[in-house]
Amino acid sequence: MVQKIILDCDPGHDDAVAIMMAAKHPEIELLGITTVRGNQTLEKVTRNALNVVQYLDIDVPVYKGMSVPMVIEPRPVEERVHGDSGLDGPQFDELTRTIESKHAIQFIIETLMASDGDIILVPTGPLTNIAMAMRIEPRIVPKIKQIVLMGGCYQLGNVTPSAEFNIWADGEAAHIVFSSGVKVTMMGLDITRKVLALPSVIERMSKHDNRAAKLFCDLMTFFNKGQKKTFGWEGGPLHDPTTVAYLIDPSVITVKSMHTDIEINSEQSYGRTNCDYFLLTDEPKNSDVAIDVDVEKFWDIVEECISLYE
Ligand code: BDR
Ligand code: CA
Repeated sequence: MVQKIILDCDPGHDDAVAIMMAAKHPEIELLGITTVRGNQTLEKVTRNALNVVQYLDIDVPVYKGMSVPMVIEPRPVEERVHGDSGLDGPQFDELTRTIESKHAIQFIIETLMASDGDIILVPTGPLTNIAMAMRIEPRIVPKIKQIVLMGGCYQLGNVTPSAEFNIWADGEAAHIVFSSGVKVTMMGLDITRKVLALPSVIERMSKHDNRAAKLFCDLMTFFNKGQKKTFGWEGGPLHDPTTVAYLIDPSVITVKSMHTDIEINSEQSYGRTNCDYFLLTDEPKNSDVAIDVDVEKFWDIVEECISLYE
């Protein structure tokens, strides 16, 4: 069944690959791309989204969203990982594509309200846009079919010992989303750290002679340099595309239903996704948390998406 989605992102190398995959796969209908401050400033991530759609000739509207989190002060941007532009590596032509005049939140609200409840939200950045939309127009909540997001972890964080970047960047927004009653499927670091864009993966994708392959290889070559410096890994985790791969073929990722709470009161553990993995409490199971990924199948899906470009 074709899945209608809105991709809410902060490109970002792995976000860019998620856009590339979602825009072309026949199982996905990408209704719009919305941007949010995260990896870089809102201006930069929006420019990056436009560069990606222009480079790959993707005919999908791009909407600019929130430039600051809901409650906390904006976090520093992730230059170590994504470079000064937020998408260092590839060379883009002069930008001619432009954003839509509507605000991302208005687009999300209007699109959901006009829908038959068949739209999936796919956030791959901080959850500010989604939570703001839920607060501004609560009637969208029952209209959301599902939220398949990249964020969180039940093991170790990547920005503090407890927290993953997207959740830590706007914990209050994450709290609103996870407690909204909408089914949340959480692709956390626990599985994204298994899909490493090792040199062998770059070599494999480089065999395709098209712009998507070139973009993938240019992105991952830069991305891996930062990952090596910061974490000592030869290949960086391709976090965000796990969401799209799961929508294309759910058998690629194993999920377990459990209760997840977002820590927003502790200074030390702010942004922690407290996932009740062992079902220790009677709290409602508000999330399907990814616990395993079929790595080979994942790369097959990424390669399939690349091969769909001319
Ligand atoms: C997440 O943070 C960003 O740097 C990536 O794009 C991904 O969404 C991983 O923690
Ligand atoms: Ca991201």
